[in-house]
Amino acid sequence: MCGIVGFVGKQSAAPILLKGLKQLEYRGYDSAGIAVMDADGIRVEKVSGRIARLCEKTENGAAVPGSIGIGHTRWATHGAPTDVNAHPHLSNDGRFAIVHNGIIENYLALREELISDGYVFQSETDTETIVHLLEKYYDGDIKAAVMKTAARLEGSYALGILCADAPDTLYAVREASPLILGIGVGENYFASDVTALVAHTKNVIYLEDGEIAALTPGSIEVYDCTGQRLQKPISRVTWSVEAAEKGGYEHFMLKEIMEQPAAVKAALAPRLHEGEIRLDDFELSEETLRSVSKIVITACGSAYYAGCSGRYAIEKLCHIPVQVELASELRYGEPMVDEHTLVLVISQSGETADTIAALKECRAHGATIIGIVNVVGSTIAKLADHTLYTWAGPEIAVATTKGFTTQLAILYLFALYVGKKLGRVEQAQYAALLRSLKLLPKRLQETIDMNYQIPALAGRYASQSLFFIGRNTDYAVALEGALKMKEISYLHAESYAAGELKHGTIALIDEGQPVIAVCCNEALCDKTLSNIVEVKARGAKVLALAFRGNKKIVSQADDVIFIPQIETVFSAALAVVPLQLLAYYAAREKGCDIDKPKNLAKSVTVE
Ligand code: G6P
Repeated sequence: MCGIVGFVGKQSAAPILLKGLKQLEYRGYDSAGIAVMDADGIRVEKVSGRIARLCEKTENGAAVPGSIGIGHTRWATHGAPTDVNAHPHLSNDGRFAIVHNGIIENYLALREELISDGYVFQSETDTETIVHLLEKYYDGDIKAAVMKTAARLEGSYALGILCADAPDTLYAVREASPLILGIGVGENYFASDVTALVAHTKNVIYLEDGEIAALTPGSIEVYDCTGQRLQKPISRVTWSVEAAEKGGYEHFMLKEIMEQPAAVKAALAPRLHEGEIRLDDFELSEETLRSVSKIVITACGSAYYAGCSGRYAIEKLCHIPVQVELASELRYGEPMVDEHTLVLVISQSGETADTIAALKECRAHGATIIGIVNVVGSTIAKLADHTLYTWAGPEIAVATTKGFTTQLAILYLFALYVGKKLGRVEQAQYAALLRSLKLLPKRLQETIDMNYQIPALAGRYASQSLFFIGRNTDYAVALEGALKMKEISYLHAESYAAGELKHGTIALIDEGQPVIAVCCNEALCDKTLSNIVEVKARGAKVLALAFRGNKKIVSQADDVIFIPQIETVFSAALAVVPLQLLAYYAAREKGCDIDKPKNLAKSVTVE
């Protein structure tokens, strides 16, 4: 999804902007551009395609002099990914240049109005309306023009603005799209994502909806939408530069798969205290929990599948009904949510537009919201009543891995905490489950170490079409395994609840059809085994996934991937890892762009 950077200081802006844009590449984009200002005015350079082309065109920034500028990576929504549609966009008089993340919903009406006012449009973007509005409302007071423009916009936006009349001031404004200000020494920055700032500074200010910022080399001023000056708190980023780099791995995705034991440990360890679970700075009392009639989990993509998996743990340990809803569906449905509903909103980025909308919908119905979020200070973290951070560290690869397993870890922790509070998990069972949960990071490491044969299996099983099957928790793993395969290797993968096969899908099983059977739920293993036998009888080639020592599986499947023993209720966090690796090696074999798969974005901040 689109990315924004801005710099003002004494050094050359363009190389800093290009570097910042590279840090944002992982978000997914299809064109890029920068605008830099010096005594001769504002100069814009933009290209469709990769940032490398922009570096070439600008001689790594040397061809664009000036020490103040803005940059953008665009992920096309309104208009094709062409040079002209790329940002920054210039006003007709060349006085303003802007970059924009988000979508202006009333842009068609604004465009018509501006055309009848005589403004000439170059691009098909919704963004261009903003820069013409700035020109229209400008009468010598830039802040006033920004405020008047913002008041006309409906939708979401984070804007970076240059004005030729303010040669040492960058302007920024946000509404429903993230923007973070970075505080340097004699220089200042902004970016849509903290990863573009950490190389320069750890001191940041999170801009809130409706706020406007003015940055010079030596000052940052923030105003509310009426122009009142605000005192904003400075936050300290704890992520290191190295954490956002590849560290010797060929791809971020592989690095992040390997980081899962440490990430899950970081999520669990601080919350486990001598046989007790503590939920950060909030507590859910027994009385509060007794008033909860159901739990709704809402999310998108893999976070939704984490929710599907978490549902089994919560229902089993808490005996509270759980409904898992896609955020994009919930936001426009008639959610059966009220003040007795506890809503878990799961999001790695904390910025997914549909998930934010679903949160707001549930809030409007009176529900209590708990966010399960990775990115500190993100919108969902701020909107939720309480937030449980997953503490996975920066996740750069578009396809989530450690983001997913840390979400599972938090869901397991939550289920055990609530189950114990409500007296639905007995002390002995609680102690055993807690011991097992503490071992999860270690078991994850063993899972990675045991599965050195996956590159070879990926070679044998990657085919144009794959089926992933499983029951209960294994079904949730099958859903995520198939999504991983589709996302990064572009192979068609279907996931099915194993018991559903005979209701249609089995018609697609022919000689040589690869079927990946997740079989880690011991209570249901025999049932899934029957499904394995059924597909094998029709010629399928079966790769099964089971706990180490499962002899029955060895006798039926063509190949088996083993994972170490753990309580079944937590098995999804281990079982998903070999499937992440399978997808990774299938994609690598095909030569796919693993960290930046086509058409996908890391953080989907538009609907
Ligand atoms: C995008 C990403 C997925 C992710 C989903 C939800 O589609 O490509 O990997 O699962 O968004 O993102 P979130 O940040 O809300 O977890």
